Amino acid sequence: MKDDTEEEFDEDDLGNEYDGDIDDLEKRTLDSNRIRNIDQSKKKAVIESVLDERTHELLGKLLVNGALDHITGIISAGKEANVYLAYDHNHKEVAVKIYKIDSNTSKWMRNYIIGDPRFKKIPHNISKVIFLWASKEYKNLKRAYRVGLAVPEPILIKNNVLLMEYIGFESIPAPKLKDIKNPKDVNVLFDEILKFIKDLYQNARLVHGDLSEFNILYHNQKPVIIDISQAVDIQHPKAEIYLVRDIKNIFNYFSKQGIDLPDPKSFYYEVIDI
Ligand SMILES: Nc1ncnc2c1ncn2[C@@H]1O[C@H](COP(=O)(O)OP(=O)(O)O)[C@@H](O)[C@H]1O
Ligand SMILES: [Mg+2]
Repeated sequence: MKDDTEEEFDEDDLGNEYDGDIDDLEKRTLDSNRIRNIDQSKKKAVIESVLDERTHELLGKLLVNGALDHITGIISAGKEANVYLAYDHNHKEVAVKIYKIDSNTSKWMRNYIIGDPRFKKIPHNISKVIFLWASKEYKNLKRAYRVGLAVPEPILIKNNVLLMEYIGFESIPAPKLKDIKNPKDVNVLFDEILKFIKDLYQNARLVHGDLSEFNILYHNQKPVIIDISQAVDIQHPKAEIYLVRDIKNIFNYFSKQGIDLPDPKSFYYEVIDI
């Protein structure tokens, strides 16, 4: 399904959306920073447990027009988005990520959109900025999925609602890597994640930009990478800085797992050597 924000960056590689500096990006997008607020927002989400009216209506339509049969519960309540477990008409699980229409969120998102020559029209409207961001995640997922990477298959994007393949067993969503006490075969896992970084760069021509054990699900003893809305094209002027940071995060995590690590620098050069 297409929406009107999609057309605007069909040819766009989402490469230049970050106009702020890296510190700002780090502040805004790193999960470690968000995680501190999650309990608070979770509480809030439970208390309010309502969506804004338009999102509600949109979900109603998705339920009526066939994409979804019913929504059962919340998997995650984050600062910028909630993720829900839903079912389609074939009783298959679907993950529904709903970005919140929030003026603060749209403000920092806008910072990354303004200044990008490929974002020809920058919406003034708060909702539209959020819609643009959500469709970025959809497009990035598509690009990664198309080249066979382990990301959830994108299903549909409509405004601030993203439907994607659900990663989990029945109603139990896959845990994040950071919550796995002793992952099996850490060496294999490490290699798989390095391969992901390399293939994402060389085949999907993207740098994740927020890669860490917080955004890797552990499913069937394999990594599935999520939360890819901020990913940048490899042509992005800061792509290499983000790549270095992603590599650092992964090497940090695995150094704590006590395995012998290769030289991260040579891995970096291996990745960018297309
Ligand atoms: N496709 C999915 N299948 C199962 N769980 C998911 C899926 N996508 C996200 N989640 C869960 O929701 C959480 C938040 O999703 P994420 O995309 O990382 O958003 P954010 O970190 O911006 O809140 C994840 O940590 C994961 O637990
Ligand atoms: Mg995340």
